[in-house]
Amino acid sequence: MSIRHESAHLHVSGQALYADDIPLPANLLHAAFGSSTIAHGRIRSIDMSAVLASPGVVAVAGASDIPGENNYGSILHDDPIFAPGIVQYAGAPLFAVAATGYTAARKAAGRARVDYEPLPAILDIRAALAAQSMVLPTERVERGRPSEALARSPYRLRGTVLMGGQDHFYLEGQIAIAIPQEEGGMLLISSTQHPAEVQQVVAQALARRANQVIVQCRRMGGGFGGKETQPALIAAAAAVLAHKTGRPVKLRLDRDTDMLMTGKRHDFLADYEVGFDSTGRIIALTVLLASRCGYSADLSGPVNDRAVAHIDNAYFLENVAIVSCRCKTHTVSNTAFRGFGGPQGMVVIEQIIDSIARKLRLDPLEVRERNFYGTDTRNVTHYGQTVEDNIIQPLVERLAASSEYRKRREQIARWNAQHGVIKRGIALTPVKFGISFTATMWNKAGALLHVYTDGTVLLNHGGTEMGQGLFTKVAQIVACELGLPLTAIRVSATDTSKVPNTSATAASSSTDLNGKAAQAAAQAIRQRLAQFAAETWGVEPAKVTFQDGQVFAGEERFTFAELVRLANGARVSLSSTGYYRTPKIGWDKKTLQGRPFFYYAYGAAVSEVSVDTLTGETQLLRVDILHDAGSSLNPAIDLGQVEGGFLQGVGWLTSEELWWNSQGELHTHAPSTYKIPTARDWPSLFRVELLEGAPNREDTIYRSKAVGEPPLMLSISTLLAIRDAIASCGSSGQLAEITAPATPEAVLRALAAVRAEAKAGVAPAIGTEAAV
Ligand code: MTE
Ligand code: MOS
Repeated sequence: MSIRHESAHLHVSGQALYADDIPLPANLLHAAFGSSTIAHGRIRSIDMSAVLASPGVVAVAGASDIPGENNYGSILHDDPIFAPGIVQYAGAPLFAVAATGYTAARKAAGRARVDYEPLPAILDIRAALAAQSMVLPTERVERGRPSEALARSPYRLRGTVLMGGQDHFYLEGQIAIAIPQEEGGMLLISSTQHPAEVQQVVAQALARRANQVIVQCRRMGGGFGGKETQPALIAAAAAVLAHKTGRPVKLRLDRDTDMLMTGKRHDFLADYEVGFDSTGRIIALTVLLASRCGYSADLSGPVNDRAVAHIDNAYFLENVAIVSCRCKTHTVSNTAFRGFGGPQGMVVIEQIIDSIARKLRLDPLEVRERNFYGTDTRNVTHYGQTVEDNIIQPLVERLAASSEYRKRREQIARWNAQHGVIKRGIALTPVKFGISFTATMWNKAGALLHVYTDGTVLLNHGGTEMGQGLFTKVAQIVACELGLPLTAIRVSATDTSKVPNTSATAASSSTDLNGKAAQAAAQAIRQRLAQFAAETWGVEPAKVTFQDGQVFAGEERFTFAELVRLANGARVSLSSTGYYRTPKIGWDKKTLQGRPFFYYAYGAAVSEVSVDTLTGETQLLRVDILHDAGSSLNPAIDLGQVEGGFLQGVGWLTSEELWWNSQGELHTHAPSTYKIPTARDWPSLFRVELLEGAPNREDTIYRSKAVGEPPLMLSISTLLAIRDAIASCGSSGQLAEITAPATPEAVLRALAAVRAEAKAGVAPAIGTEAAV
């Protein structure tokens, strides 16, 4: 049912409380990080005298002030909270200072005098590959006989696909407040997608037990994956200062520090060779997939695994070999970002398919369709999972028809023939995205549900709210199970003391997981109440029904609140936990084989763009999307996720450029130089539809599908529409490659290459063996 976000009225009126809005005790201290100015080096000495003498300063903390473990690494322990003698990226935290005011803390933090012995820095993927500098050992996945199949392919292409990273640019930056409690306890208010991990890291850093640390999060002003592992650093630093001073400490990063210090989406390169036939069907593919992980592993293992597992997107790759290199560089440690490597894998194959189509002078959509997974044959992925729920072909056909793709392609060709400066392009790309954490153990959730004697319900579950609407959906589920109006349900802040050992709110799975856990808790309560009513009024428990705030037991009829009061009087427990774990899945992280995903979410998008060939500027003229959310729990929220995800992807692929200088200093660390999409970038015509009548064939909560990440990848259509427009400036058969982000500079470079090539007349004639 379309119901507005539970906090919509608070968001728009400014009443929603984010961590920074929470009233705090008067003895609160504000903290700021002092950070490294060089990419790689040994710290010879740090002179803190000017910091300590700075007005308002109360304390400083560095590596030696950490009573426990100086680490916040989530999988490997290779992320120091404060650099212990060596720095590995420009922006790395060295120490934190606590002062009586926010500005005082920031000013003081900049006054440390650090003497470095610089060490050689590896800054990009190519340099890391050359030096074989990796954060994790290289992995390989192979299926079929890729080299033989390549050798016998009538056509072959070799090339490189490049794409940049992306800053999360959540509106609310990283923040944590640490409030000391009695007997060594520590309460943390943290803007985090992963309260359980913050709890664990803080406990380890302070050498406390887990039951002494409580982490709460009511909501985030956006996370997008950037608050999966990074908040543990912020929380741990605040906790160390709170421990040292015995006072509450708030640590809020300003935007520049946030962008310099915290990990981003991984940029990737892919060196590939593809073999195909004259219809465009792929016969063999070999890919070297390499990403910039930064100085530590963080989540780079699973991020790159997901890239490997999405390099097929919706296409059957019969003979394929993928080498996955997780490159270590002296840059910030890259992390989760909406899609978690999936988008990068998909960009690779979509660019390759586009190249095949251009080489063969076919419509790229034709080549896409020719390579789609089948339903009975050609339906097993290269990681061994059978695609059981494939709906990509009918979905794409419907979108191609409703968007008038073919007719518009002709219109665009006519436009381009008539216009010299403004060129147009169009592209349709599909999405098939696997739902579940690839690490099977995280596919679980817990919930805690209380019913009070006035008939109201307080619900807690392991998921966090970051704007995606999780709390709304889970409240809807509980209301539905108990036959109550939504107003009777309240979801409280996520709290490690209520539901323990939770997974990160990530992988788009939180409604799947927490929704089912909350359903189990609500069903337990309903059964108890039904049993009580049945015994009291002598009917079968199955005959007791809950609807519209009423309970019906044979001839008897009560309000829910009345029944609850009676049940409480009869000493029936009105509180329950619920637990859920995803069935059917399992995946061998060593061989990258198995069934990592419970199911797939599908979608497709058509983008039409115009490109100003004088300035390189691009504009989204029209976007048509058909997206599969199964039986949507809340179409209003799901449409918001599709629109927002799409536009965030457009930002990644067109305007958001991270630029480091040759010293490894990030220069784009503020909105003045880092361009996220704004209202101006909204497509002039934007038609978004959810696929109707397509319930999830797996037993998910009310047959819905996860919707948080998959729509981001619909934006690949925009990149390829730009490529299509650029191609119109060259001759048929030219590849017209464009790198992401397709900034005006990148577009002008691509245009220049296309024109130079067309002039030289090097586009090979079709029918001859393609140059390799
Ligand atoms: N939507 C909003 N408004 N804000 C966010 O931070 N994060 C995205 C997506 N949608 C995000 C969002 C990411 S990265 C994920 S994994 C999912 O939401 C997480 O929530 P879900 O599991 O409830 O979909
Ligand atoms: Mo989302 S990248 O899984 O937090």
